Amino acid sequence: MLREGKVLFELCVPQVVSSEMEVFYNPHMRENRDISLLVLLHLPFPKVKVCDPMGASGVRLLRMLLETDKVERALYNDLSQRAVDFFRALVRSYSLEDRVEVHSREASLFLRELRGIHYVDIDPFGSPVPFLEGGVLAVARRGVLAVSATDTSVLSGTYPSTCLRRYGSRPLLSAEFYHEVGLRILIKKVVEEGSKMDFAMRPIFSYSYRHYYRVFFQKELGAKRADALLQKVGYLLYCQRCLYRQGVQIEEIKRSCPHCGSSLLVAGPLWIGELWDTELVEELWERRGSVELSPTTLKLLRRIREESKLQTVGFYTVSAFGRALGVGQPPPVEKFLEVFEGVRTHFSGEGFRTALSHQEVLRRKDELLQRA
Ligand SMILES: C[S@@+](CC[C@H](N)C(=O)[O-])C[C@H]1O[C@@H](n2cnc3c(N)ncnc32)[C@H](O)[C@@H]1O
Ligand SMILES: [Zn+2]
Repeated sequence: MLREGKVLFELCVPQVVSSEMEVFYNPHMRENRDISLLVLLHLPFPKVKVCDPMGASGVRLLRMLLETDKVERALYNDLSQRAVDFFRALVRSYSLEDRVEVHSREASLFLRELRGIHYVDIDPFGSPVPFLEGGVLAVARRGVLAVSATDTSVLSGTYPSTCLRRYGSRPLLSAEFYHEVGLRILIKKVVEEGSKMDFAMRPIFSYSYRHYYRVFFQKELGAKRADALLQKVGYLLYCQRCLYRQGVQIEEIKRSCPHCGSSLLVAGPLWIGELWDTELVEELWERRGSVELSPTTLKLLRRIREESKLQTVGFYTVSAFGRALGVGQPPPVEKFLEVFEGVRTHFSGEGFRTALSHQEVLRRKDELLQRA
């Protein structure tokens, strides 16, 4: 017997979770489901229709039904007949048949025919790309599309040609914030999927955790809004030698580093705007008591709340700083936070963001060494 939030269910979960499981349930996605419940509570509608087009065990939808009072109708879909049978039985045991629809179709086809859903959650094995267009179409105005991606090694640069083919962008494995680059490429892809149909899919909450990336997008209609969002799609310039980094528009791309003259690496196109809507972050934090969150979800939210106060493109890490700038044995991250007026980042335990210009960061290096 397993329990997640208010849902009790019987399932055999192997030591190593894999897509081979008869009915898929990944306990390591608990934080992912926790945060989806919080975002659901934020939706600007009193009652909502929600859809999990790759529902698997269906625990996500059941938690939405049992732990919030917002769900008017839940649409479950999964190609696996075993998953469908499992979910049906679970729904019956909670007497929720009246509020639940069960389907078993290919998810991208299923989504294509849906419209006006207030919350759609795309959570596939691997890349979400085949489901994005349908997902964008299915979401209602001001509704939310949630996207998980587990092809993080593609997005973060281990397989650059696959990233270019699948997402249309060049990643940057050599930057210490390569996971942030991957997340920003994923955001760009969804923004583009929206803008081609005159929708503005604005990222409102993003993170990287364990083996996956996750972004929530709020949908608005109109070519003007879509154009405005595209202003925040650009490129990343990065210097491996002195760690200079900058998010730029295409016309601002330059070849050599303004600080040390080395040739610059260029990643993108990618999202160079905000990763979080700070009002939403505060709201999620305020609501943290309203659903059953795991301690790890709370820890992640706390870290993101701090991090979202400085929305820079890229962050520094203690080890990259030490290596590139010849700091020898670098001091602990706390010293960096003091000297560079920084905040910590959820992407890396030894990472920090600073609003200071790179020039100012280089200038304060000696101060850091004195304090160490
Ligand atoms: C990662 S799991 C989903 C987890 C679930 N959303 C949750 O929150 O626990 C992916 C599920 O998608 C199903 N699936 C895979 N490809 C599919 C497709 N093309 N159409 C519909 N379902 C699919 C699998 O059977 C599996 O149950
Ligand atoms: Zn440089």
